[in-house]
Amino acid sequence: MEPYNEKVIENYANPKNVGKIEDANGVGEVGNPVCGDIMRIYLKIQDNKIIDVKFQTFGCGAAIASSSISTEMIKGKTLEEALQITNKDVVNELGGLPPVKLHCSVLAEEAIRKAIADYYLKQGVMSKQEVMEKCKIKPEEGCQKCGV
Ligand code: FES
Repeated sequence: MEPYNEKVIENYANPKNVGKIEDANGVGEVGNPVCGDIMRIYLKIQDNKIIDVKFQTFGCGAAIASSSISTEMIKGKTLEEALQITNKDVVNELGGLPPVKLHCSVLAEEAIRKAIADYYLKQGVMSKQEVMEKCKIKPEEGCQKCGV
């Protein structure tokens, strides 16, 4: 396997924004069907902006690096801006991942979209259908527990 580049190693060895936000108003959790790893993301949203973000990832180095860099990418962004971020953007920001590790970056994109969906649902201003569409969540990605 190709080695990880320095930026990936740095984000894995010293990840930013690790942990939990107790009073988060948007929480998203996704599992990677390829390997079974899990990422949970906590958002503190105010005036349509992400003012704080933390993550917990039980996964490989690429998943941790992707989680770390994606939290840096969305901090301070509006919800609409954060929803535009794809796993390709995450990989580009990391300066690339080995091809067999590309699937790990998908966790970060999906967890962000789910956390934002959770926020919108809690606000109660949109129907579940509208939230799923706005956050581009496919029905099969839905969580049985929380409905997002
Ligand atoms: Fe599971 Fe990377 S191997 S997220």
